Amino acid sequence: MTDFPKDKLRVGFVGSGFIAHFHLRAMLGVRHVEVTGVHSRKPENRARVVAAAAELGLGRCRAHDSLESLFRAEDVDAIWILSPNDTRLAVMRRLHAEVKAGRSKAFAVACEKPLARTVAEAREMLHLAEDAGLNHGYLENQVFATPVQRGKEIIWRRAALATGRPYLARAAEEHSGPHEPWFWQGDKQGGGVLSDMMCHSVEVARHLLTEPGAPRGSLKVRSVNGTVANLKWTRPHYADQLRERFGAEVDYRNRPAEDFARANISLEDGDGNPLMIEATTSWAYVGAGLRIQLELLGPEYAMEFNSLGTGLKIFMSRAVTGRQGEDLVEKQNAEQGLMPVLEDETGVYGYTDENRHMVECFRKGKTPLETFHDGLAVVELLMGLYKSAETGRTVTFPDPELETYIPVVARPSIRP
Ligand SMILES: NC(=O)c1ccc[n+]([C@@H]2O[C@H](COP(=O)([O-])OP(=O)(O)OC[C@H]3O[C@@H](n4cnc5c(N)ncnc54)[C@H](OP(=O)(O)O)[C@@H]3O)[C@@H](O)[C@H]2O)c1
Repeated sequence: MTDFPKDKLRVGFVGSGFIAHFHLRAMLGVRHVEVTGVHSRKPENRARVVAAAAELGLGRCRAHDSLESLFRAEDVDAIWILSPNDTRLAVMRRLHAEVKAGRSKAFAVACEKPLARTVAEAREMLHLAEDAGLNHGYLENQVFATPVQRGKEIIWRRAALATGRPYLARAAEEHSGPHEPWFWQGDKQGGGVLSDMMCHSVEVARHLLTEPGAPRGSLKVRSVNGTVANLKWTRPHYADQLRERFGAEVDYRNRPAEDFARANISLEDGDGNPLMIEATTSWAYVGAGLRIQLELLGPEYAMEFNSLGTGLKIFMSRAVTGRQGEDLVEKQNAEQGLMPVLEDETGVYGYTDENRHMVECFRKGKTPLETFHDGLAVVELLMGLYKSAETGRTVTFPDPELETYIPVVARPSIRP
């Protein structure tokens, strides 16, 4: 029996890569939390998380050489799943088994986006969490991005109240391509950029269109229409570049996944008003770095945000030379010229408030704003979009075929 509220939440990480370190930095802005454990396969990666947690003063973090050891630790209350998409289900099945057998005292789990690679996998993630009695949170940072929270609050309180609800949300996320080989492999990742980044765009757009405090079911998805394309990385020069960078396992001459995706999603609110989401994502954008663009439009108002339109900009002449880095903005592409700088990436991208929200909900035994139910609903949308792109038709919701649908690029035996 767990008594709430807990004085503090002790978090264990599964995964020690890019996003684990983002979450660690974000935890600096969260109270009542310690990061007490980490498991990944390589000791040196685990050691880096332990060292970073110590340096940030986030508690005494211990490295665990197995999932079992992490889940059975006396000082771990909640698990953050931050490992690659193809490892999700094995991690969740193990956590479920340990909790059900009474060997783990963990009472909550949070999982990075996307919740899973298919609807069937996402449904099992949800079932395992609920069957084990775990509180669950879906880590969709853009819902907690500071401009999204502030913009949504103002639009709905002032503009929508006076002139009517918003009807159109636009969301785009683009960068020049992911940092690790598994992202580029359709079967491992679950798809290409549509799976990897459209998950953000559809969920943040839905969130902006939803009346504050109303449940997810208040908006009904009517239909989805998607397009995918290979714009850049299948060009021979760039396919060879990928192979040189990541090895033979990333073979974009013969086995590419899409680097561009577009979505039109038709929805309806409780009063039957039509609503639209337009989203576009790509791994083929070479600008200063990662660009998130969001818009929310209604009858007498509009909101817009562009993550590269920063207040802080730094100019460096061609005489300024140095190492390549991501120290100005995520997925940075240059170190010279006029460069935008996000001075608080963890805050603006939403990681700080996301972690604060999850920690407070888990500590108090409350249901988070984003749960595995939302993660499942996102995967249903993504599969609908992939199916639409494959068939060249609009997909009407609900579509029972999505239960077993696997995107073309994720099917092991098919080479597009
Ligand atoms: N919210 C966002 O915007 C955002 C951004 C980036 C990533 N993500 C999501 O976060 C997740 C991780 O992405 P990432 O960028 O951190 O990837 P990454 O840099 O490749 O890191 C993956 C980590 O998982 C560990 N790992 C691999 N297989 C494992 C296994 N079987 N068991 C335990 N640990 C394992 C790896 O360490 P070892 O080699 O030591 O095992 C590595 O530390 C993905 O689901 C991704 O979609 C979200």
